[in-house]
Amino acid sequence: MENMLARLFSALCLCAGIHASEKPNIVIFLVDDLGIGDIGAFGNDTLRTPHVDSICENGVKLDHDLAAASLCTPSRTALMTSRYAIRSGMTSVIISLMSPQGIPASEHTLPQMLQEQGYATALIGKWHLGWNRQLFDQYYNPLKRGFDYYFGLPYTLIKDFGGSSEIMVDFGFVGKLYKVLGICLITSMVVSRLINNKLGITMALMTLIVMGNYIFTLKTFGIWNSALVRNDRIVEMPLNLTSITQRLIGEGQNFIKSQHAAEKPIFLFMSWLHVHSYVHPQPPFKGASQHGPYGDAVEETDWAVGQIMDTLRELQMLDNTLFYFSSDHGGDKLEHDEEGRLVGGWNGLFRGSKGDGSHEGGIRVPTCVQWSAKLPRRKLVSEPTSQMDLMPTLASIVGGRMSTDRSIDGKDILPLLTGEATRTPHDFLFHYTRNKISAIRYMPEENGTVYKLHYLWPQWQPGTDTWASLGDQVFAIYIPLSKPLLFDVAKDPREEKPLDTSIEPYSSVVKSIEEAKRSHEKSLTDAPRGYVPNLHEYTNPLRSTFVEYAWQMVTDAMK
Ligand SMILES: *[C@@H]1O[C@H](CO)[C@@H](O)[C@H](O)[C@H]1NC(C)=O
Ligand SMILES: *[C@@H]1O[C@H](CO)[C@@H](O)[C@H](O)[C@H]1NC(C)=O
Ligand SMILES: *[C@@H]1O[C@H](CO)[C@@H](O)[C@H](O)[C@H]1NC(C)=O
Repeated sequence: MENMLARLFSALCLCAGIHASEKPNIVIFLVDDLGIGDIGAFGNDTLRTPHVDSICENGVKLDHDLAAASLCTPSRTALMTSRYAIRSGMTSVIISLMSPQGIPASEHTLPQMLQEQGYATALIGKWHLGWNRQLFDQYYNPLKRGFDYYFGLPYTLIKDFGGSSEIMVDFGFVGKLYKVLGICLITSMVVSRLINNKLGITMALMTLIVMGNYIFTLKTFGIWNSALVRNDRIVEMPLNLTSITQRLIGEGQNFIKSQHAAEKPIFLFMSWLHVHSYVHPQPPFKGASQHGPYGDAVEETDWAVGQIMDTLRELQMLDNTLFYFSSDHGGDKLEHDEEGRLVGGWNGLFRGSKGDGSHEGGIRVPTCVQWSAKLPRRKLVSEPTSQMDLMPTLASIVGGRMSTDRSIDGKDILPLLTGEATRTPHDFLFHYTRNKISAIRYMPEENGTVYKLHYLWPQWQPGTDTWASLGDQVFAIYIPLSKPLLFDVAKDPREEKPLDTSIEPYSSVVKSIEEAKRSHEKSLTDAPRGYVPNLHEYTNPLRSTFVEYAWQMVTDAMK
C-alpha cells in the first residue's frame, strides 16, 4: 500500500513537471566549533571570510539560528534527523571510535531522504556519529545512513592527532588512575606480606593489567582513533593533517565533476575538520591572520568553501545550487594550544560556549543559505530557527518524505527564507544539555519577544562565563535552579537581566512554557536510554580502528 502511494506520488510529481534535473544541487558547509563572531557577515571586522560572506550576501542570513545541542554528536544527530538527539539516545558526545554507540539504523536521515529523491549523496570530512557496533562491522558507516560516497574521518579531530602532549580525553582520569594503581599495588604488597604471597602477586598482576590498559590506551589515544576512511576502507593511519583540507577540497571537487556528467542532482556535505583543535592551518594561511593559529584556520576554511564554489561556478552549476553554511555549535572558550593561546571560537556578544546547551553562546550559529535561482539576495531573517529545520525545508523543496510515524522537531522554513512568511513556525524550542532540558525558548504569537526560561545554570568559574576545565564542559556541570530564570533574549541577548516571574505577563509566560515542557516530555516516552560514555568502552584497543586497519591488511594479504 505504502509502495503504491509512493509510486502514485512520484507519478503526480512528474505530471506537475518537477523533473529530477530541475531539483537544486545541495551543498552543506559545516564548520566544527566555529563561533558566530568569527564571520565577517556576522560582524567580525578583522577576520577575512569573503567566500562565506558572499553566501550571506547572495542569499539569506539567519541571525537567530540555533544548533539543537552544544556538542558535536548530539548537534549533528539533530541536523541529520530533524529530531532532538534525545529521541535517538545520542545526547552525549561519542568519546572514541572504540565505543559501540552511534546513530541508530531506525532513524530516517537527511541524506536518505535526498537519496530517495534521486540525489547522488556524498559526505566529505568529519562524521562523529559512530563507527563499529560489533567488531569491525562498520554498523554506523555513513554509507549505511544515506551516503553513496564517503571520504573522511569517522571520529573527530583531536589534539592527540597533532602530536600534542595533552590528551584530549584525559578529563583528569589519568592522574586518578595513577593514584588507584599506586593504592592497589601497595595493598597487594601488604596482602602478600601479611596474608598470602600468591594472592598478593595475583592481585598486583591483575591491577597492572587492568589499570595499565586504561593508562596505556588513554596515553596513546591518538593512535587508536586517527583513521582516514574512503567508503568502507581505512586508507590512512595515522591521519596526515598537513594536506587534509586540500584533500577534502579535492574529494568534494571530484564528486561534483563525476556527477556533473551523470543526470543526478547532487547532495554534497562538506564537513570540515577545521576549526576544532588541533588547529592546523597550512601555508599560505599559517601566520597570515590577525588572530593566531585559530584565525588562520578560519581563513583557510573560508578559502576551502570558495574552492568548492568555484568548481560549481566553472561547471555552471552555481545558480541552481543551494548552499547551507553553518557551524555545529558555538565556539570553544576553553581550548588553548600548547603555547597557551586561545584556539577556540569567538561567540560575539553572547555568553556561554561549546558544551553549554542553553546560553546563546553555546548554540547560536552563523547560518547563511544561498540559492540564487529561487531565494532572495541580502535577506535577513531574525526569527528564531533551528538547524533541525534544514531537513524538512529541503524535503519541501525536493518533494521528499518526512517520517510520519515519529515526532519531527524541525519545521519547513522555506516560506521564511523566501519572505512569504515573517514569523517562525516554532512556538517553542527545547534546549538540551546532554539528556536534560536546560532551557526552553518561547516565541509568543504575533510579537517579536523571544523568551527563554533556564532550568539549569552552568557552574561557571566565578566571574566568568566558562567552566574551569574541558572535563566540566564535556560532562556539563550544572546547578539546578530552584526558581527557573526567565529572560527576553531578543532584548537581552547576554541573558543578564532576569524578568520578575511573580508578576504578569511573565507569570503566564512561565505557565505556557511549563505546559509545553510537559507535553514535550510526554512525546519522549519511547526514547531509548541515552548513551553515557564510560571508561571501559573507550579504552578497549581491540575494538579500535588501529586493529581494524591491521585486520584489513591481513585479509587483503590473504586474498
Ligand atoms: C573576530 O574573531 C576573532 C577570532 O575569534 C576575535 O578574537 C575577535 O574579537 C573578533 N572580532 C569581532 C569584532 O568580533
Ligand atoms: C603528509 O603530507 C605532506 C603533504 O602531502 C607530505 O609532504 C608529508 O610527507 C606527509 N607526512 C607523512 C608523515 O606522510
Ligand atoms: C508579547 O507577548 C507577551 C506575552 O503574550 C506580552 O506579555 C508582551 O507584552 C508582548 N510584547 C509586545 C511588544 O507586544
